[in-house]
Amino acid sequence: VKSTGSARGKIILLGEHAVVYGVPALVAGIDREARASVQRASSTSILLAGQPLEANDALFEALSQASDLYGLGPLELELELDLPSGSGLGASAALGVATARALAHLADRLDEATIWRAAMAWERVFHKNPSGVDTTAAMRGGVLRYVRGEDPTPVRLGQSLEISVCVAGPPAPTAAMVESVARLRDRRPEAFTKNLAAIAQLVENAEPTLRSGDERSLGRLMDLNHMLLSSWMLSTEEIEAAREIARGAGAFGSKLTGSGGGGAVLAVGPSAPILDAWRAAGYVSFVAKIGT
Ligand code: MEV
Repeated sequence: VKSTGSARGKIILLGEHAVVYGVPALVAGIDREARASVQRASSTSILLAGQPLEANDALFEALSQASDLYGLGPLELELELDLPSGSGLGASAALGVATARALAHLADRLDEATIWRAAMAWERVFHKNPSGVDTTAAMRGGVLRYVRGEDPTPVRLGQSLEISVCVAGPPAPTAAMVESVARLRDRRPEAFTKNLAAIAQLVENAEPTLRSGDERSLGRLMDLNHMLLSSWMLSTEEIEAAREIARGAGAFGSKLTGSGGGGAVLAVGPSAPILDAWRAAGYVSFVAKIGT
């Protein structure tokens, strides 16, 4: 018999990278998901979107880390993903949580604490030092304020918000981006700490704008967060081009989301013209409705 699980992708509205160092982040689950289906087998195999993976794929290591917690032997795992992967939209965490849920069903051990540990063991294969923000968003959905090592606090929105999302250029590995930020911190600890404090302040100010639906202020805070992230060399020409297009189409603000170095860009503002402009420029894009 097959056991199944699913989990959501996410967008980080503000606070990525700083969250690794204990600053709060605001994150939202999006209605695009990962699905996993697992059954016992004589040898382990993984299908991603119907394609068998090579034995040296990191997903095998991730599966072994997660399934060890349940004491399961060889498995046949099938994965489906509605999200672009490696783009800062939480694909690896969503796959990890979906798989952990499927494993939990197979082992008949449904407690959330073990699912979390299994999904984090999976995530560490890709991210080395994950803050847990992606895994938390994948498990919980909704809009959350997340501090590393703490239970997340739900943020209630007065009305749902449309966030425009596009994928601006090829992704960069999260682990490498997190390490490059760590090197900047080692080189200039004081400047780094100042940046962290500034991001913490932006997150603090953003929470009421989400509650009241003040998109203009949220957009300004996103622009400022983006500037601080780009001072850590996380932006790219493609990301700046996508932001410029969004601005031209009436966005109130925009930023990279996730680990940067490529991948996704968020914009707040009138989503129809923003999406049209991105699509005309050839970007894959969609609207994420948050707080519904
Ligand atoms: C990646 O989606 C978010 C980062 O802050 C890394 C992490 O929190 O583990 C860049």
